[in-house]
Amino acid sequence: MQTSQVISKKRDKKRLSKEEIEYFVSGYTKGTIPDYQASALLMAIFLNGMDAEETFDLTSSMMRSGKIVDLSSIPGAKVDKHSTGGVGDKVSLILAPLIAACGVTVPMISGRGLGHTGGTLDKLESIPGFKTNLPLKKFVRNLSDIGVCMIGQTEEVAPADRKIYALRDVTGTVNSIPLIASSIMSKKLAEGADALVFDVKVGNGALIQKEDEVILLAKNLIQIAKKFKRKALALITDMNEPLGEAVGNSIEVIEAIQALKGKAPEDLTKVTFALGIYMLILGKKAKNFSVIDRSASGGKEAKEKLDEAIKSGKALDKFKQMVKRQGGNPKVVDDYRLLPWAKYKITVESGQTGYVKSINTLKIGLSAQKLGAGRERLDSKIDPGVGFLIKKKVGDRIKKGENLAVVFSNNLKKGKLAKKEIREAYQISKRRTKRLKKILYLVDEKGIKRWND
Ligand code: URA
Repeated sequence: MQTSQVISKKRDKKRLSKEEIEYFVSGYTKGTIPDYQASALLMAIFLNGMDAEETFDLTSSMMRSGKIVDLSSIPGAKVDKHSTGGVGDKVSLILAPLIAACGVTVPMISGRGLGHTGGTLDKLESIPGFKTNLPLKKFVRNLSDIGVCMIGQTEEVAPADRKIYALRDVTGTVNSIPLIASSIMSKKLAEGADALVFDVKVGNGALIQKEDEVILLAKNLIQIAKKFKRKALALITDMNEPLGEAVGNSIEVIEAIQALKGKAPEDLTKVTFALGIYMLILGKKAKNFSVIDRSASGGKEAKEKLDEAIKSGKALDKFKQMVKRQGGNPKVVDDYRLLPWAKYKITVESGQTGYVKSINTLKIGLSAQKLGAGRERLDSKIDPGVGFLIKKKVGDRIKKGENLAVVFSNNLKKGKLAKKEIREAYQISKRRTKRLKKILYLVDEKGIKRWND
């Protein structure tokens, strides 16, 4: 088989066979297909798409590029969560220890920053010493001993996603439904989870912005999970403004730790708890409940368990155990000065009085990436201490001169540019505006339901 022919076929909008997909995935993983040819094929897929069967074959080849983790020796259900990517989305850092503290094992393989969106691995690695590339044996041992482990795609597990993900990040090929679905599902199927909860983001800061396409992505994820006999459901959640206040790496770790101490902003708590309730239901720690009838006991029962794990300090303790097990310094939980901090703190004042009408979240994410929170090239180094605090959200009242945000930067010029970009990202109106609804739909095997707050 010739790689150039496979590229030309997709360029000409033809279907790729299972064999051609396998040839590409295994060749690129082994290094016999170079980056430039892989980039060309990814761009052809980005432009011309893949049908359901091709997406399934791509997922399957990527999943089989490494070992499939067997967690059958660990009792109970193993449940994981994955987000399609957002700005300020630190939910995984909170949920993994929180759900483990409620007695459900959470085997989590996450990714790095992708495009303008942040990555769980980059955030975790801002904790001094924290390792996300553990050998498979250690991953399983940690899960068996403490019920949670958060790693990245390694040479052993999902190596194809490790390489393709990094290449997509710097070649403009991130925002593609088949590439996102296969990337997520290949590592989730390889990690050994029995059930999956997806947080599929929609809006101006999401990888896929349009609602109908996002619903299609959610359905794709659930269908692939079903074919591989995994239980799955998805919440479609809003990304028309950053989630919580912090955007960056160490700054998001701090907000996640604050959340585990019960001090999270309301929007972050809402999304984290909704996903967490379903993780406990799929993990058989609470009864199912109806989205239409919130008083049904399963939701209440799960929420009480989550509240209790936070109030009792068990969730925070689980986070500390995980940090320690993965080589990090657990003292960061009590002393945030042990985390990387940026040299300069620059406030972003509003030029007008009024109400926040909209926030261009893509612009905020790109600005954070430029500041050093994300990568522009394969070999770019992350600056873990930089980022933003977003102080005003859609619907908030703001006075002229009051802070919209704060920029943390290690370079004054870059920090000032970020200040200008954040200002430009805000639209302020004289008229009162409404807060955004954070959770929009529940999608499961039976279909889609509007979420009632
Ligand atoms: N998360 C992933 O793991 N992959 C993507 O492509 C997008 C979000």
